[in-house]
Amino acid sequence: MLIDDIEYVIFRHPDLAAIRQFMLDYGLLDAVQQDDALYLRSYGDAPFSYVTTQGDAAFVGMGFRVASEDALLQLATRFGADITDCPHPGGGRYFHTTDPEGRRLEFVFGARRLEPLPSGGEPIVWNDAHAKNRLGRYQRPGYGPSHIQRLGHLVVFSSCAQQMIEWYGQNLGLKPSELIHDGNEANVLAAFMHLDKGAEWTDHHTLAIVQAAAPGLDHVSFECRDFDDVGTGHMLMQDKGYKHRWGIGRHFHGSQIFDYWTDPAGFHVEHYSDGDMVNADTPTLRYPFGRDTLLQWGPPFPGL
Ligand SMILES: [Fe+2]
Repeated sequence: MLIDDIEYVIFRHPDLAAIRQFMLDYGLLDAVQQDDALYLRSYGDAPFSYVTTQGDAAFVGMGFRVASEDALLQLATRFGADITDCPHPGGGRYFHTTDPEGRRLEFVFGARRLEPLPSGGEPIVWNDAHAKNRLGRYQRPGYGPSHIQRLGHLVVFSSCAQQMIEWYGQNLGLKPSELIHDGNEANVLAAFMHLDKGAEWTDHHTLAIVQAAAPGLDHVSFECRDFDDVGTGHMLMQDKGYKHRWGIGRHFHGSQIFDYWTDPAGFHVEHYSDGDMVNADTPTLRYPFGRDTLLQWGPPFPGL
């Protein structure tokens, strides 16, 4: 195994105060501000999940937590990169490179983990029509920002999706969980790709690559504590007057309960909960593009 997980996303924003306030309301927390870099953390143990620096708005890239020192060396050798001390909070050793479309990729091993923070009450015990599991106790999630546990995945646009899918497969070991095509299986329009962790269960997608006119970012997605945490976060973001993009609904690929918001610079961020898990034995599925590949229920995708 080369990569344990995706750990952080890298942006540039023209107004750091505005993006900080948006992200605090969205459910991230202050980690540290170093020079012109704003680091925000989740409630989980990652040193940070989001970093943005002052500048023209841009999606810069992503950082991965590498599985071992050996894996770091193996990856650095593959990319012909030098391993140095990691300058980010948590330290450790790292290197950086870029993919063929210019996205910055950082690989870190040995960063100090943070103490996870309390996420507001006990996990939900569900009562459904057939099984009553919560007896004599009330469901009271409380009002406030979502409790983001970790960065979950990125969905990027590519002008040459098939080549990028192959590149991420060959170089990072990502494997397609599900592929979307244009009606002909040979013409892949998008891939939802998971980390290669063998028999270990991993998210249905850590990176999705979608064919588009030009490279870019569709969204960055953060895992919330649970379904109610997505809902209460939605209410707070709505009350604060932020721009909503799409949701609440349940995706098809990955099955997440989703809710999308748009940050002050126009980037989309997703709250999600209840995503699928896959492993090396999960077969790759293929679908033609259509409404059903976007969601199972919820409002229609804006513009479709
Ligand atoms: Fe997503």
